[in-house]
Amino acid sequence: MSNPLIVALDVPSIDEASTLAKHIGDAAGAFKIGMELFYAAGPDAVRSIDAPIFLDLKLHDIPTTVARSMRALAPLRPAMVNVHALGGRAMLEAAVADKPEGTALLAVTILTSLHDAALAEIGLPPAQDAVSLLATLAVDAGCDGVVCAPADLETVRAVAPDDFLIVTPGIRPADHSQDEHARGTTPAEAMKAGATHIVVGRPITRATDPGAAARAILEEL
Ligand code: C5P
Repeated sequence: MSNPLIVALDVPSIDEASTLAKHIGDAAGAFKIGMELFYAAGPDAVRSIDAPIFLDLKLHDIPTTVARSMRALAPLRPAMVNVHALGGRAMLEAAVADKPEGTALLAVTILTSLHDAALAEIGLPPAQDAVSLLATLAVDAGCDGVVCAPADLETVRAVAPDDFLIVTPGIRPADHSQDEHARGTTPAEAMKAGATHIVVGRPITRATDPGAAARAILEEL
């Protein structure tokens, strides 16, 4: 997947998802299907898109359950699938061992919605320390990459091998409103800071011409 742009299909139906995917076409390197669409439409959502899929299900359960879920996903052959690094080493190793053939297993470090005060409330260190610890664990456990916030890219880069995938959401094109993002990072800034892939949703999917919006982001890179 040489095109680093992953477009988030955060819509509740296959119709809406496949219409968007058709408009965007190969301006996207991959499409992200998350819990909203997967819970609403099931595996058919993945089958309906003729492009690489990042299946953003963020699994977090006991190792056996996660391993069996990975095996259940095998027929869908997603390009990427993810689990929470907070599930711990044994869970990560189980996911790596049973992930679908040809699928990259990513570990979510710390959700971008969690700030230091919220982390302290659940007994976790500040984001930078937690991300460093969890990214190191993901590397050790054999994961192919991580998902992290733009603010954590440098922290992850410092502990990741060169071929590690670093996928980051929270991206806003230079000329776009920030939506609810306190400080969105531009596509070019994220890639310069060490991301290998960026996830962009609404700036593309809510544009009047989603294909043109996606191509404009590629040009920004
Ligand atoms: O905000 P946008 O529509 O571009 O979000 C695309 C995807 O990135 C969403 O599916 C969401 O899960 C993820 N995201 C995130 N952290 C943010 C913003 C978005 O994880 N700060």
